[in-house]
Amino acid sequence: MANPLPLEAEVGVIGAGAMGAGIAQIAVQAGHRVHLFDTRMGATDQATTKIGEALVGLAAKGKLARADADAAIARIVPVHALGDLVSAKLVIEAIAEDLDVKRKLLRELEVVVVPEAILASNTSSLSITALAAGLKHPGRVVGMHFFNPAPVLPLVEVVSGLATRSETAAVVYETAKAWGKVPVHAASTPGFIVNRCARPFYAEALRLLAERAADPATLDAVMREAGGFRMGAFELMDMIGHDVNFAVTRSVWEAYFHDPRFTPSVFQQELVAAGFLGRKSGRGIYGYDANASKPEPRTESPQVRPARIRVAGDAAMTNGLRDRLTASGFDVGKMAADEAIAPSYLVVDDAFVVPCDGRTATTIAVGGGQPGVVVFDLAYDYGQCTRLAIARADTCTDEAAAAAIGALQAAGIAVSRIDDVAGLAVMRTVAMLANEAADAVTQGIASARDVDVAMRNGVNYPRGPLAWADTIGLDHVCTVLRNLAAHYGETRYRISPLLARRCATRAPLGE
Ligand code: NAI
Repeated sequence: MANPLPLEAEVGVIGAGAMGAGIAQIAVQAGHRVHLFDTRMGATDQATTKIGEALVGLAAKGKLARADADAAIARIVPVHALGDLVSAKLVIEAIAEDLDVKRKLLRELEVVVVPEAILASNTSSLSITALAAGLKHPGRVVGMHFFNPAPVLPLVEVVSGLATRSETAAVVYETAKAWGKVPVHAASTPGFIVNRCARPFYAEALRLLAERAADPATLDAVMREAGGFRMGAFELMDMIGHDVNFAVTRSVWEAYFHDPRFTPSVFQQELVAAGFLGRKSGRGIYGYDANASKPEPRTESPQVRPARIRVAGDAAMTNGLRDRLTASGFDVGKMAADEAIAPSYLVVDDAFVVPCDGRTATTIAVGGGQPGVVVFDLAYDYGQCTRLAIARADTCTDEAAAAAIGALQAAGIAVSRIDDVAGLAVMRTVAMLANEAADAVTQGIASARDVDVAMRNGVNYPRGPLAWADTIGLDHVCTVLRNLAAHYGETRYRISPLLARRCATRAPLGE
């Protein structure tokens, strides 16, 4: 195991913008002297003031002793020439996201620092292999990808290009850990771990909107209240900025030679063209001017409590909902499952309440010869969720739908009915997140553990996608993807080789 950079080693940070300032703050807080360089007049002074305010703010909140804050502030050294980084043992660049500009900087830097010094890039989309190419010592070039805001978000992706020495990556990994961060190793591939594996979170939501499955506020509420995500995809894209989000999607799609897994959204392209970029422009999916009020999610009106509930078969989703209904006083009887409908479901009065398996409710109703089918969505935790999405078959009567809705409401769950789309909202998103994560593991981009750690710590997912697939059941996740692939006729939903293999051998996907 490598040792972290010793505290007496000097760190250089190049680029004193949003990310550079945050990274410099982390390094001085950890105890290093940081030489901060920027070509823009006044940038390092502004960053130094900003870091000082942040550290004093932490001291005022009691998160840091005032003396430690003052000592950390004193360790920031703004410098005026690249040559002033001569004694740095680790240099992290956070300059403009441009391959030629970054390569030029690294070439200049190479002759300034000692050959043992590590050259790290905070790039979020450029190839580390390409950045290192042509340098005298490419083995010391590594990605050190922080997330914004760097002092707050714990994840650091330590990215190795083809020439990166394993020792270099190991030192940066241990250093990030010593700085209180959560590092993961990743191979240099488009989007690394997080920016690649998170694509389905946005893409499936945008596809649901394109299909007019529901309005954005309803889909966001379902992702939060049933899916357990901090924010819905539309709220999050409005915060990130559609220009930034669209550019990342597009660059990953182009880098993977237009793999349909990553196809960007025409609607999001229109938002960008209109200048509806999100919060920063006052309008995105939602409005943000002074008069704007956030639309309410669509919620079903109260229905009567049904008389009788039975459960058929045995599957994680059905069991989760059954337990919630039992806890709210229903005496749930057992019955045999009719496999023509599904391996497992609930029967609420005359309604067949079927866990989402990637088929539409209408397909299930027609195939199973039972008109009264209502499909329910995945929840992160059926015992705790406050909302659930459902879809009803075109053949379902109002009475049957009302029975299903009444049961959920009696258990304290708000019901959002969305159009009868395949895969509903949480289910198709989580299935695709897990599928993408499995592909990243298949392709050796990161270990299963690191992918799950990255998604929890980089984008705050409530559970790593691979571990989540295990709790749903890999059989079920594969069924969902297979049904989505058949429904849309797109290779986008093809099953990752690793997921298929683990499903066959009944071994877990997560670690
Ligand atoms: P920014 O625009 O806030 O800051 C960039 C700074 O670099 C500016 O102050 C600029 O004057 C300076 N600069 C540009 N060229 C330079 C050069 N040749 N030498 C010295 N200084 C130079 O940009 P931001 O957002 O801080 O991004 C910096 C890097 O971090 C980019 O590679 C970006 O992709 C990456 N990144 C950004 C994240 C974000 O959310 N903003 C998240 C993770 C990574």
